Amino acid sequence: MKDLVINGTEKGKLERRSVPVVNIADVEREALKRIPKHSLDYYRSGAGDEITLAENCLAFNHLRIRPRFLRDMSTRVTATTVLGIPVAFPVLVAPTAMQRMATPLGEVANALACEAEGTIMTLSTISTSSLEEVAHATPNSPKFFQLYIYRDRELTRRLVKRAERAGYRALVLTVDTPFFGQRYADERNHFKLDAHLKMANFEEEDKEASERINRVEANLKSGSSGLAEYANSLFDPSITWDDIAWLKSITSLPIVAKGVLTREDALKALETGCSAILVSNHGGRQLDTVPATIEALIEVVDAVQGRCEVYLDSGVRRGTDVFKALALGARAVFIGRPMVYGLAYDGLAGGRKVLQMFRREFEQTMGLAGCATLAEIQRSMIVPAGYLLSKL
Ligand SMILES: Cc1cc2nc3c(=O)[nH]c(=O)nc-3n(C[C@H](O)[C@H](O)[C@H](O)COP(=O)(O)O)c2cc1C
Repeated sequence: MKDLVINGTEKGKLERRSVPVVNIADVEREALKRIPKHSLDYYRSGAGDEITLAENCLAFNHLRIRPRFLRDMSTRVTATTVLGIPVAFPVLVAPTAMQRMATPLGEVANALACEAEGTIMTLSTISTSSLEEVAHATPNSPKFFQLYIYRDRELTRRLVKRAERAGYRALVLTVDTPFFGQRYADERNHFKLDAHLKMANFEEEDKEASERINRVEANLKSGSSGLAEYANSLFDPSITWDDIAWLKSITSLPIVAKGVLTREDALKALETGCSAILVSNHGGRQLDTVPATIEALIEVVDAVQGRCEVYLDSGVRRGTDVFKALALGARAVFIGRPMVYGLAYDGLAGGRKVLQMFRREFEQTMGLAGCATLAEIQRSMIVPAGYLLSKL
C-alpha cells in the first residue's frame, strides 16, 4: 500500500508522492497509520518512562563493527539450527499477544509468514488464535509455544499437553513476568480487547478456570480494569526456579528460559535443566531501566560458556543488530514488534516482507563485514563507539 506525503512548497498546490517501504522503520510508520490508537499504544509502548525501550535500540547503535576485507564474499551462508531445528537465517519470531488486533488472521498469518520464510514462530499463551488453529494452518513448520504459568496448575498442565499434541517443538517459559509491568499508555487508554476477539487458548479448558478467565476477559473488554488485572489475577506470581522441575515432570519438550538478564539467573536456568536462554527484557515492557539486552548478553554468554544455546530479543531492528548479537555470542535473535507491525501493515505479505528485510540486511552485513559463514562472526569484530579514540 502507498503512503502519501504532502509537500506544500508551491503555493496553493500540494504535491503528493508515495514513499516506498524499504526498512523496518518504514513498516512501523505504515503500520501505525492502520491500527486504532489503543492497539497501537499497546503494541508500541514500554514500561514506565520507556528508558529501557529506547535503550534497547540505542545500545546497538553504540556498537561499531570492525570489518575485514578481501575474503571472498561471493556467497554468504545464513542457515543455522536452533535447538537442532534448521532455520534459513538466525532471526526467529518472539511471542506477542493478541495479534488479531493487527490483522484479521492474527497469529495464523504470522505462522504462515514464518513457514514461507523458513523460520520459527513462537505463539503467545495469550493469543487471539488458538494453538491448535495455528498448528493446523502450518502443520509442516516448526513452532514454539510461549508459556505463562497460571495459578491454576491444572490449566497450565493442559496447555502444555495441548502444545505437545499439536506438535510445538519447545516451551518458551517467560521468567520476567510474575505480573505485568506498569504501562502508562494502556492505563490511560483503559486498554480493552476488541469485542469480537478472545483469548483463544482457553475456550476448551475446564469449566471453572474458563469461567474465571471469561470474567476477567469481560473486564478486559469493558476496559474497566485493563490487561494488568488479567495478568495479576491469573498468572502465578509465586513461581520460582524450583517450578522448572514441575514443568519438566509434565513435559519432555525443551524449555527456553525467556527474560534472563543476569549471570546469576543464567546459571539458575542451566542448573534447573533449561535447554536454552533467551536474553530479553520483554521489549522494555516489564521493569523500566533494566539494561538493554545487547549489554546483558555478554554477561550471560560468559556465564553459560557454551553449555546451552543463548538467544536475544528486544530492540532488534536491522541486519547490523543481528550481526552484533551473533558476534557477542547469541546463536539467534527474536523479533517482537517488527513482526506485529508487518502484520498490521499488510497481513501475511507484510509479515513475510519483514522477515525478508531482516534476511537481506543480515546477509548484506555479513558480506560487507567479511563473513561468509556464521562461524566467522566473532566478538573481536565489535567494539563500543569511542573505543578506538579512547586508545589515543
Ligand atoms: C505487543 C507485545 C506483546 C507481547 N506479548 C508477550 C507475551 O504474550 N509473552 C511474552 O513472553 N512476551 C511478550 N512480549 C515480549 C516479546 O516476546 C519480546 O520479548 C519483545 O517484543 C522483544 O522486543 P522488540 O519488540 O523490541 O523486538 C510482547 C511484546 C509486545 C511488543
